[in-house]
Amino acid sequence: MNTNDETAGTPGSTVGFEADIRPLFRELDRSSMLETFDLWKYDDVVSNQDAILGHLVAGSMPCDGPWPQSHIALLRRWIDDGSQP
Ligand code: HEM
Repeated sequence: MNTNDETAGTPGSTVGFEADIRPLFRELDRSSMLETFDLWKYDDVVSNQDAILGHLVAGSMPCDGPWPQSHIALLRRWIDDGSQP
């Protein structure tokens, strides 16, 4: 498990999509990306998780400003833990 960033949720607890990841995506994010995938839908996010993480790390998404490192660390931990629902 990636515990490098202590702000990424509670250390030791499992990161889940519904509880921890979905709330990171704003209504604007969802509506902007809806033609490509639904950021509020578990299956869509899992299917595109590498591209999503890549854009967030690069700072090219969201289009109106990069995510804080704490958000990115949490998403990375979620993926590292096997993308739990
Ligand atoms: C956390 C929020 C967001 C994530 C994770 C995200 C993720 C992505 C990803 C992975 C792609 C590439 C899709 C592909 O090539 O199949 C993409 C493309 C795009 N996104 Fe987002 N997006 C987010 C928010 C936004 C917002 C807020 C806007 C603008 C209002 C936006 C506008 C676009 C546009 C115009 C493209 C197509 C052009 C491009 O690839 O740069 N996205 N996004």
